[in-house]
Amino acid sequence: MTTPQEITWIWNFFRKVDMFSALSILEMGELIDRIKKIHYKKGETIVKQGKMGDSFFILYKGKVKATLKKGIFSHIDLGELGPEQFFGEMALILEQPRSATVTALEDTDCFVILKNEFQYLVRKNPVFSKIVSDTSEERAFEINQKS
Ligand code: CMP
Repeated sequence: MTTPQEITWIWNFFRKVDMFSALSILEMGELIDRIKKIHYKKGETIVKQGKMGDSFFILYKGKVKATLKKGIFSHIDLGELGPEQFFGEMALILEQPRSATVTALEDTDCFVILKNEFQYLVRKNPVFSKIVSDTSEERAFEINQKS
């Protein structure tokens, strides 16, 4: 359930960040209608390395950590993300399993965009496409270096 306050937050976020700047007001409204808010408890796994993915996440509240499996029992920290940052783009852009595990470091709320909506944004909006592709490349580079 998305509250009016949350809708205002998404609306302001979409208008403020370059990523969504090419969307018309109508398209922003349609996207907001379809976006889902999901709550994750502290310690919960949001995406798991190696699994297929169909969602893209924008952090609304809270903090998450991305980690990479190293051997059977250990892992490497890739980085922490907080409000207004995104994750889950790599599996969707590269059409590959999740590259890392993302875990909630505290109670966290994310706005989730499903794959077909994400792909529409990539096709429709070159700025969105460039930002998610550049970020994905930087993260893939870091993963390769640390693997
Ligand atoms: P994806 O591969 O779909 O699922 C795991 C996600 O972890 C990945 O997309 C990125 O969004 C995120 N991720 C990967 N590497 C990093 C990193 N170095 N810092 C922050 N997030 C990352």
